[in-house]
Amino acid sequence: MSTREGKLVGRRIVITGAASGIGRATAELFAEEGASLALLDRNEAGLAGLQGTPVAVDVSNEVSVETAIDRAATALGGIEGLVNIAGIFPVAKLAETSLELWNETLAVNLTGPFLVTRAALRHLMKADEPTIVNLGSASAIVPYPELSAYGATKGGLAVLSKVWAAELGPKIRVNVVCPGMTRTRMVSDWHPDPAALAERAKQLYALQRIAEPVEVAKAILFLTSSDSSFITGSTLLVDGGRTFH
Ligand code: NAI
Repeated sequence: MSTREGKLVGRRIVITGAASGIGRATAELFAEEGASLALLDRNEAGLAGLQGTPVAVDVSNEVSVETAIDRAATALGGIEGLVNIAGIFPVAKLAETSLELWNETLAVNLTGPFLVTRAALRHLMKADEPTIVNLGSASAIVPYPELSAYGATKGGLAVLSKVWAAELGPKIRVNVVCPGMTRTRMVSDWHPDPAALAERAKQLYALQRIAEPVEVAKAILFLTSSDSSFITGSTLLVDGGRTFH
């Protein structure tokens, strides 16, 4: 058994999108590091088996978010860290992007983090060394075709993270993690053939593979823990070299 002190011992943290993929890996890693967690997702059943208080939420709905953050703060006795991971990934050519799809993507991926962060703010302001980490995407830096709505939300979130870092400093540190393709349902729905996905990764990534969810979770851990105490407003690429390759 490890005798190493966890990096988040006693820290009270809210994670959105914790039921699946990167959010789930982050919830598992943060629990191992000693955090007390409130796990928010619209798929409440998917939160089963994780350590922490499960809370149902639709991040795009103001009332749902306010209720969920109140429940999280009550369960934890405060909020010291927030990780905005919940998101959707619609792929559509510009000409086939309906207004409904556009609005839904913005509502979940961009308005969602705004609503959750605004609701959590009064709790974060009372905490010691509070942190916010947002999940952007390498696709905001090296744009992909057929990702108009998604790319717009991730580019928007990267800017929002810097605005918040400027506005909420020196109290709250705010950073954005931008992953490349990561082995989750989002990517297997996009590239259902594993061999074709592996081939694509070989061409696009300096490391010639896609990321595992825990590799992204470790970057989120770094930006949430005191190891990154002088880092705010920064964009951390976890992209296997995709953006320079
Ligand atoms: P995922 O689909 O496995 O997980 C997304 C989670 O968000 C799910 O548990 C889902 O129930 C939840 N969610 C979706 N809409 C919600 C809503 N309205 N309210 C509350 N919860 C909601 O996806 P994955 O791959 O783990 O992605 C997580 C984040 O990482 C997303 O923001 C995504 O854009 C970002 N990302 C993912 C990449 C990848 O290759 N998988 C690459 C770059 C960024």
